Amino acid sequence: MTADAHAHAARADAVRIVEVGPRDGLQNEKAMIATADKIALIERLAATGLGTVEATAFVSPKWVPQMADAAEVYTGIAKREGVRYPVLVPNLQGYERARAVGVTEIAVFGAASEAFSKANINASIAESLERFAPVLDAAKRDGVAVRGYVSTVLGCPYQGEVPVREVVRVAKALQAMGCYEISLGDTIGVGTPRKARAMLEAVAGELPMAALAVHFHDTYGQAVANVAACLEAGVRVVDAAVSGTGGCPYAKGASGNVATEDIVYLLDGMGFSHGVDLDAIIETGRWLSARLGRDSMSKVNRAKP
Ligand code: HMG
Ligand code: MG
Repeated sequence: MTADAHAHAARADAVRIVEVGPRDGLQNEKAMIATADKIALIERLAATGLGTVEATAFVSPKWVPQMADAAEVYTGIAKREGVRYPVLVPNLQGYERARAVGVTEIAVFGAASEAFSKANINASIAESLERFAPVLDAAKRDGVAVRGYVSTVLGCPYQGEVPVREVVRVAKALQAMGCYEISLGDTIGVGTPRKARAMLEAVAGELPMAALAVHFHDTYGQAVANVAACLEAGVRVVDAAVSGTGGCPYAKGASGNVATEDIVYLLDGMGFSHGVDLDAIIETGRWLSARLGRDSMSKVNRAKP
């Protein structure tokens, strides 16, 4: 983290924003984005004060061609002192590719729904946890920090309802394996505030709230409200993507992540510190929208003159 990010993270009213735009945002883009543009985006994001920018994914390029240039992207970033640049890793092969270019923080990604797990990573939940175990072991050996995602925590595109007890079970399993933080993902953006809060509280009944993050997609326009409800319930880590880009190629109908600009505005309004410069993140969102050739999904970005 930057000195500013460190200073604000020490405060009880501080929220850490995990920027996922370069990964979750760009993995679903139909047009191929130039590697140089991805690098420029990450550098611009890190310059806004964000302490964590998820940079790319070392997944199979056959499954997600948009992330095929993961190694080039990661090595191309002029890394800012104190900023963390985690990457997604699905298996040992991805871990080795990531380590070969010096990655120091990764994220593994499981799901609370069997059907989504199969569609996204071609494994049952149990198989996925088995697959993560050697990755976590290697990471521990190498001193690499590991975050864990649980997807489909409020609904699945294939099986519909997802029992909260499954979310709790997978979150606990990832934490027991050594993930320092569990990000709870409403992959298809179907959640509403009370349900989101109840899900978070169920997980927080078993794991420390300080080890949890929330990750909302805005498919039904509920993401900001869901984040607000979860902040009120005590969560202090929020995933967001600049300009509201995003979606998962294996979650039909999933639209963008909650926009970072909108989260910064929300946090300012609720009195939380976050270390991010609103004007700079808006500017970065506009730069990305121009690159992608479409309007920003961020309401704040559109509203600000
Ligand atoms: P598989 O086909 O079962 O894997 O895919 P495999 O082990 O049988 O390998 C098949 C081929 O892929 C082989 O190549 C491997 O070498 C290669 P071939 O012999 O055919 O030439 N391969 C790899 N290549 C590069 N890097 C690797 C890698 N692994 C295998 N790491 C696998 C299984 C997990 C690999 C695949 O399903 C995959 O990559 N899935 C990733 C899907 C993905 O990235 N989804 C989006 C991210 S999740 C998300 O967005 C949700 C989240 O945002 C939270 C939320 O919103 O809720 C996190
Ligand atoms: Mg996502």
